[in-house]
Amino acid sequence: MRGVVKEYGTRQARVRALDGVSTDFPAGSWTAVMGPSGSGKSTLLHCAAGLEVVTSGQVRIGELDITTSSDAELTALRRRQIGFVFQSFNLLGSLTAGQNVALPLKLAGVRVSAREVRDVLAGVGLADRIRHRPRELSGGQQQRVAIARAMVTRPAVLFADEPTGALDSKSARVVLDLLRDMVDSDGQTIVMVTHDPAVAASADQVVFLSDGRIVDRTAGLNAHGVAERLAALED
Ligand SMILES: Nc1ncnc2c1ncn2[C@@H]1O[C@H](COP(=O)(O)OP(=O)(O)O)[C@@H](O)[C@H]1O
Ligand SMILES: [Mg+2]
Repeated sequence: MRGVVKEYGTRQARVRALDGVSTDFPAGSWTAVMGPSGSGKSTLLHCAAGLEVVTSGQVRIGELDITTSSDAELTALRRRQIGFVFQSFNLLGSLTAGQNVALPLKLAGVRVSAREVRDVLAGVGLADRIRHRPRELSGGQQQRVAIARAMVTRPAVLFADEPTGALDSKSARVVLDLLRDMVDSDGQTIVMVTHDPAVAASADQVVFLSDGRIVDRTAGLNAHGVAERLAALED
């Protein structure tokens, strides 16, 4: 991201959610984005993922400048290069876990084999839940299905907005261990928003936002160290 500005609204109601953000999310590593409520974390994630159009500045994913891409290119990018996981899972309740996982490829007009779906669910430790519906799964299991669904297109980047925000600490740990394994074993690139220092400490580096600007970037801090940096921003 280079000099990214994102404004919402017009005239007196205008809000500058991102105020000139320049940063890199290194391939094959896991970055956490932290900051006080309203500091622009979700906006940053949506702009980086091409889910929202920036007001000015540049966003590049690999070789592709998504700020100058056509609508068709952006749609293709979102379907094939981007995985997105939400706090609220966003699974379709009427579909089984397997059908939820297959959905992104079906939407992209790609044939999906049962084996492919089983393999991706096995990757999140849920091969035996392929026929379960979301309400028959725990919160942690539902989030792992959502991660499998995000990964089925083999995206270049997995974006996650508070992925453990709705989970108890034990389920959260399972999800964080899964993300860690995706980075270490497969070289997956992950960008994750969280407000929880213990969650951020699982990542390789932490970017701190305040009032729409990046004010710090750290690596190797434990939860206590992350909490101290965050507290300094909230003063
Ligand atoms: N769709 C929107 N319309 C208007 N203002 C928005 C919209 N989305 C976010 N904002 C504003 O932008 C700022 C940053 O929001 P957000 O990125 O959601 O922060 P965070 O995720 O860090 O809590 C806030 O002031 C918020 O009210
Ligand atoms: Mg948010």
